Amino acid sequence: MSQKRTTVKAHPNIAFIKYWGNAIPDLRLPSNGSISMNLQGLDTVTSLSENNKGAFHSLEINGEKQDSIKTKRISAFIEKARELYGFSGYLDVRSQNNFPMGAGIASSASAFAALATAINDFYALDLSEKEISALARLGSGSACRSIPDGFTMWKTGTTHEGSYATSIVPVNHWELYDYILIVNKDEKKISSTEGHHLSATSPFQSVRIHDAKRRLKICKSAILDKDFEKLSDIIELDSDMMHAVMMTSNPPITYWQPDSIAIMKKVRALRKRGIACAYTMDAGPNVHVICTASDLNKVKENFKQFKGIDQALLAKTGFGARVIQP
Ligand code: PMV
Repeated sequence: MSQKRTTVKAHPNIAFIKYWGNAIPDLRLPSNGSISMNLQGLDTVTSLSENNKGAFHSLEINGEKQDSIKTKRISAFIEKARELYGFSGYLDVRSQNNFPMGAGIASSASAFAALATAINDFYALDLSEKEISALARLGSGSACRSIPDGFTMWKTGTTHEGSYATSIVPVNHWELYDYILIVNKDEKKISSTEGHHLSATSPFQSVRIHDAKRRLKICKSAILDKDFEKLSDIIELDSDMMHAVMMTSNPPITYWQPDSIAIMKKVRALRKRGIACAYTMDAGPNVHVICTASDLNKVKENFKQFKGIDQALLAKTGFGARVIQP
């Protein structure tokens, strides 16, 4: 008899209103709510099967067996899921990504979204979308936003069960593109987990959190109304506010590189010329250029000869995590 296996596909997401800092770090309960878009075209495919070799979980990424340090975070996550849902056994986790990891593209979001969805299917836990989202959050906060479809909102919540993401609108509501300009695809030096801890040391963090509800409201209504101009202003402001916190933390974290700044300036100049594009950056030096389907080619054209770009990736509004092979 062939071994039982579950395979799931999940996408990372790009935050329009960012999550930076936890109110309760152990549960990854965020200091502020956030909004994001799933990134179809950047895929994580994860499969689970029983590990018969011993009482431990094993992890393989892109065909490479991971050492115990890299496996630790995944194992800790599976053990938390076990505590909550009481299943037994150890797992072989095999994951494939078609995009560079740890470079400001949320590979941990798609990784834990895929894993939470796969655990639910593999152990037939019959969890709701909200419960799977809350479970994914325990692995990586932003992973909870990769569970529902399209554009999603994660409200803070005050308990484990109460902190999950839901869909604002489905995929077909608005086709937006994320043209990701990779200025440096090396692994970043400071992880987002470390960054969340440092956020409270910035005098700007309380201001950023205090203003978050206002930004969330504007961003949500821009998505509902498909108002790109309104969306551009709010996502650029939100990204700049998060990076201001990062740069003023103690010790400071500066993800921006000269090439990142040049790209952001170019994006603003293009918008002035009537091209519908806006920038946002996560915890890395790469710039996500968000644009409409109708202006995508103009954006691509304008960055074709731009110096300092190693590689460009393309993604569009995508689905949430799905079982693709039960
Ligand atoms: O989920 P984490 O712990 O990797 O944090 C994600 C942080 C940002 O990507 C910078 C912002 C966000 O909301 O995705």
